[in-house]
Amino acid sequence: ALRGSFARKAQKPSQSSHHGLQLQASYKVAILGAAGGIGQPLALLIKMSPLVSALNLYDIANVKGVAADLSHCNTPSQVLDFTGASELGNCLKGVNVVVIPAGVPRKPGMTRDDLFNINANIVKTLVEAVADNCPDAFIHVISNPVNSTVPIAAEVLKQKGVYDPKKLFGVTTLDVVRANTFVAEKKNLKLINVDVPVIGGHAGITILPLLSKTKPSVSFSDEEVEQLTIRIQNAGTEVVEAKAGAGSATLSMAYAAARFVESSLRALDGDGDVYECSFVQSDLTDLPFFASRVKLGRKGIEAMIPSDLQGLSEYEEKALEALKPELKASIEKGIAFAQKQP
Ligand code: NAI
Repeated sequence: ALRGSFARKAQKPSQSSHHGLQLQASYKVAILGAAGGIGQPLALLIKMSPLVSALNLYDIANVKGVAADLSHCNTPSQVLDFTGASELGNCLKGVNVVVIPAGVPRKPGMTRDDLFNINANIVKTLVEAVADNCPDAFIHVISNPVNSTVPIAAEVLKQKGVYDPKKLFGVTTLDVVRANTFVAEKKNLKLINVDVPVIGGHAGITILPLLSKTKPSVSFSDEEVEQLTIRIQNAGTEVVEAKAGAGSATLSMAYAAARFVESSLRALDGDGDVYECSFVQSDLTDLPFFASRVKLGRKGIEAMIPSDLQGLSEYEEKALEALKPELKASIEKGIAFAQKQP
């Protein structure tokens, strides 16, 4: 059973939870990089969640005003701001979910891997602080290249002796959101019902939408499969080019990240029916990390869904084999970076 969109859930603050109690604001969420293009709208969307009691916003600059502004919204969570390395520890104390959109975005002509040198160090530093201050938190890594930053985060957590692979997530929800939108448009479907699993990684050809597993079941011509797959893979670049130097996707990314946070909070709250695609440590293929649909529970990933990788179309089988060398190289690059500077 796949769940509806973040928006649909968030619009029902008074619904009963599964144990018959009213939903109560009780979780603490931190955003690291909260003053950025993704951070600000993401903070706004999380401020709307009835499940959040505290929203801690961290950045190296400009976060005070963002927090003051948001704090005037009359929703349950208390918003606090934290600026600079000296306040990072306090930002993270007692936090249940940490979201990391810190780092530089792409400009036209850049690949996500071109961001590696700057963002690898940022993610490493931030995850070290997470390990020291809230080692039990769910960690949502948005900073690109996700195919490398998630393995970096895993290595850092291992070095600190607190790695729990069930709680480390690369955020690939935007790939699912895009796939759902483009498929619904192309096939004239009611958008709210469409769900396309997206597997592999989060860059170029490593993004593999499983169109054959679209819910509700739809049939596509070979040409449609080819067009849709390429559009989903290049959707980020579509935005980078349209923004012409002003950055990459921020609003749709914030929407997608908010959905992933809301799913995580519902899982923490005991909802037994929460599924999302994410780039995680995985044994579904011969690669150590892989994006696929996972079942979320109170302790993080409760189950992988191996059947999602069975019965693929011929096109998908080929694309899966073709993406593996690039994804493997990106994973190894991340691990090597983290291991050479302990
Ligand atoms: P942005 O430049 O608008 O914001 C980044 C924020 O990070 C800034 O406020 C900056 O001050 C902050 N920052 C920089 N160094 C920091 C540090 N050491 N600690 C804390 N904060 C720090 O960039 P934008 O557009 O918000 O993108 C952020 C990241 O998200 C990029 O790496 C981008 O590639 C990635 N991204 C990922 C997507 C995904 O699907 N996973 C989709 C879109 C973007």
